[in-house]
Amino acid sequence: MGNVLSVRQLSKHFILHILGGKVIAGCEEIGFDLKQGEFLGLTGPSGAGKSTVLKCIYRTYLPTSGQMLYTGKDGRQIDLACAPEREMIRLRRREIGYVSQFLKVMPRVPAVDVLAGELRQKGWEMERARQRAREFLKIMDINQALWDAYPSTFSGGEQQRINLARTLITEPRLLLLDEPTASLDIVTRQIVIRVLKDSKAAGATMIGVFHDLDVMGRLVDRVFGIEAGRSSTQCSPPQVATDLTPVPGHYYDSASVECGAGASTDRRGSGRIASREDTL
Ligand SMILES: Nc1ncnc2c1ncn2[C@@H]1O[C@H](COP(=O)(O)OP(=O)(O)OP(=O)(O)O)[C@@H](O)[C@H]1O
Ligand SMILES: [Mg+2]
Repeated sequence: MGNVLSVRQLSKHFILHILGGKVIAGCEEIGFDLKQGEFLGLTGPSGAGKSTVLKCIYRTYLPTSGQMLYTGKDGRQIDLACAPEREMIRLRRREIGYVSQFLKVMPRVPAVDVLAGELRQKGWEMERARQRAREFLKIMDINQALWDAYPSTFSGGEQQRINLARTLITEPRLLLLDEPTASLDIVTRQIVIRVLKDSKAAGATMIGVFHDLDVMGRLVDRVFGIEAGRSSTQCSPPQVATDLTPVPGHYYDSASVECGAGASTDRRGSGRIASREDTL
């Protein structure tokens, strides 16, 4: 099967104007291919550049250089690194989904309408969209008493499930997941694993960042390690348990400690710029 996504020499640098133009490397010359229906796990220490890579693909961040060749449903190849904004909006609505680390929703919109709203954007009629939203809230094991409540009042784990559900309900072809199970207990984590497996079985192609190696090992086909913004390791999930065992004093990837190339630009600068690209 062909590649849904080919990332080539992807780099993203941030210029911190408040620090006299200091350059921070979010990621450096990242490259990987993703086949139709494949699930790739991204690993690496905090600050390595995992979220930056996902945000570049979703184009929340405009890459500094490189290519991200996406093959659309219609077979057309689009370089996400330079696609016009209008094309990106179309792809986000129709084909590419992104689940961020934290839920951002409009205040005072009930959970059922947060989900139904996503389907409405795809042209669904209101009652049908609400019906599907209720089914999905049930699948995600959200207590029925909360369906008409505002997600901003939900617990961390409930918010995380709403966050995932609002993207999954649209059945994206390419799904980008930034720590979708971070604040879930064991039972709800199982639910999310099951739902993600179902999405994969239905043909979705996925990239996920997981700090929980057990969850990652159960979901992904392949692991791509990033260290200090650069590619470090690639391995298959059976190796995850041994290769990525936590090492005291290090992160969990011993191979990446051996080959962890430092980026030429300073990655340890303080402060984060609230760039225009940071919010979408
Ligand atoms: N909007 C931004 N402005 C400035 N620097 C940024 C911005 N976004 C990311 N960075 C920097 O890029 C580097 C990579 O950040 P990123 O969020 O991609 O790391 P991560 O691997 O996802 O970490 P974590 O596991 O903690 O989520 C960090 O040094 C970070 O400070
Ligand atoms: Mg991150």
